[in-house]
Amino acid sequence: MARKKLIAGNWKMYKTMAEAVRFAEEFTGIYGGGDHEVAICAPFTQLAVLKAAFAGSDVKLGAQNMHFEEEGAYTGEISPAMLTEIGVDYVVIGHSERRQYFAETDETVNKKVKKAFAHGLAPIMCVGEVLEQRDEGVHFDVVKTQVEGGISGLREGDVKRLVIAYEPVWAIGTGRTATGDQAEEMCAFIREVVRSISGDEAAEGLRVQYGGSVKPANAIELMTKGNIDGALVGGASLVPADFKAIIEY
Ligand code: 13P
Repeated sequence: MARKKLIAGNWKMYKTMAEAVRFAEEFTGIYGGGDHEVAICAPFTQLAVLKAAFAGSDVKLGAQNMHFEEEGAYTGEISPAMLTEIGVDYVVIGHSERRQYFAETDETVNKKVKKAFAHGLAPIMCVGEVLEQRDEGVHFDVVKTQVEGGISGLREGDVKRLVIAYEPVWAIGTGRTATGDQAEEMCAFIREVVRSISGDEAAEGLRVQYGGSVKPANAIELMTKGNIDGALVGGASLVPADFKAIIEY
């Protein structure tokens, strides 16, 4: 069965509420839907207004992080129930920026992925090597460890619904995108790692996105590969026309 591509924007720490609403109005004005699933992963404070602004459109909503506990004395954190209350569909887990700046590890990623599924949220679990690791030729080992750690103990039925975003750190925000072949090679590898742990059904249902300097100009090269099931788009998702052009590559 063909997998439906997921093209998701990751806004990171950009846009105020007013800017988010303006984006939604402009974007829903130019994008009327299509074959792919589309989502915007916005800062927490923009989620509720975006839920309202995207009502009646096909655009799904995602958060960029959440805590793995139900609730508690965790100042500054957001719980899964706080996200589901808003009607969030997706949650980005383990983005490389969170691994780098906020001490996210494969273990916390694993806890968050499990908790997201327990609450009916679909995790977009990010993996990817840094430049030195690619230069040293250990990128497959690095990504394998991240994937194995992230999905450890997950039910096969959940793995089937998981989204993994392969985001080579050297391609994020650098304008230096992976080639279609490099991205396809790693996305196919990720699927095989998942197959060896969770079986064929999970591996074939799993969606593997590519992320890292995806732009209107390179989207077609990346999105037409057999193992790339969509994109996680940073900078270009901030501009309605660019995001639309990527979706309609
Ligand atoms: P850019 O598209 O800005 O390179 O960001 C990629 C990314 O990190 C998406 O999560």
